[in-house]
Amino acid sequence: MTKPIILTGDRPTGKLHLGHYVGSLKNRVLLQNEGKYDMFVFLADQQALTDHAKEAEIIKESVGNVALDYLSVGLDPEKVTLFIQSQIPELAELTMYYMNLVSLARLERNPTVKSEIAQKGFGESLPTGFLVYPISQAADITAFKANYVPVGNDQKPMIEQTREIVRSFNHTYQTDVLVEPEGIYPENEAAGRLPGLDGNAKMSKSLGNGIYLSDDMDTVQKKVMSMYTDPNHIRVEDPGQIEGNMVFYYLDIFGQENDKADIAAMKEHYQKGGLGDVKTKRYLLEILERELAPIRERRLEYAQDMGQIFAILKEGSEKARQAAGATLADVKKAMGIHYF
Ligand code: TRP
Repeated sequence: MTKPIILTGDRPTGKLHLGHYVGSLKNRVLLQNEGKYDMFVFLADQQALTDHAKEAEIIKESVGNVALDYLSVGLDPEKVTLFIQSQIPELAELTMYYMNLVSLARLERNPTVKSEIAQKGFGESLPTGFLVYPISQAADITAFKANYVPVGNDQKPMIEQTREIVRSFNHTYQTDVLVEPEGIYPENEAAGRLPGLDGNAKMSKSLGNGIYLSDDMDTVQKKVMSMYTDPNHIRVEDPGQIEGNMVFYYLDIFGQENDKADIAAMKEHYQKGGLGDVKTKRYLLEILERELAPIRERRLEYAQDMGQIFAILKEGSEKARQAAGATLADVKKAMGIHYF
């Protein structure tokens, strides 16, 4: 019996942080360990190049870093196929065929792409490849006949566009070779978008407000001690605010079931007055370290042999290429462009 297929990936443009961890990586490891799916996780280096064409070295370095992040959170190459997008030329070929089924107007309407274009300030120099990346993302997903795609809420328009392309292809060529995927979105809204240490709505590299999975303990400690709390909570005996206080926000997300009672008691104490920020931060550090320490340890081990990491990615890419090649052959046959 064939298992349902799960596929997901990340643009390698830097190292992964706690936001990625609670928003998606943790869930991927759970899905992996359920053993009910055939799972593919990949580094979308071609997509990263659509807005970093002139910084290819950043992409290359990040491929290694993100692969290390994957392995250190517990993704297991024995259970998941890990691969690199650019090593599967079949994806680019599929993109060519899908491009003919999507209008320029439709691409320009994609709300995520629209806001990225505004945010990046491309203006007249918008690269064609960037505007088209949702089509290449549809190729990524359909090449593996993925049934489920676990992604953040910002990726909903990509899944929607992929579904449209599948329907259009299957209808146009009177076939059922392509599979309509479903997105799996974060259940927990708060964890789906982890705010930065400074209280900014998003943890991001450009804002410099994140804790990275690769940060050492001293760095994590410094970062936790600098977190945004309640600016009016000046003396320990002052009553403090929980709302908007990042320490409590993170405690709610990272605390386990059996920490809940302690966290509730701390909140009460803090609101009443008499509990200092240093104490709440030390407690948060303990809770974060419980999760981060084993990740860091595995990372240090894997990092000693980057050759092995790339060997894993090479093997995964070869396997992925076979799967994508089979779909491409079916696609060309459905289109009637198999001549010999
Ligand atoms: N767009 C995704 C991101 O920005 C990365 C990505 C590329 C992806 N292709 C994909 C995710 C296919 C899921 C499925 O993070």
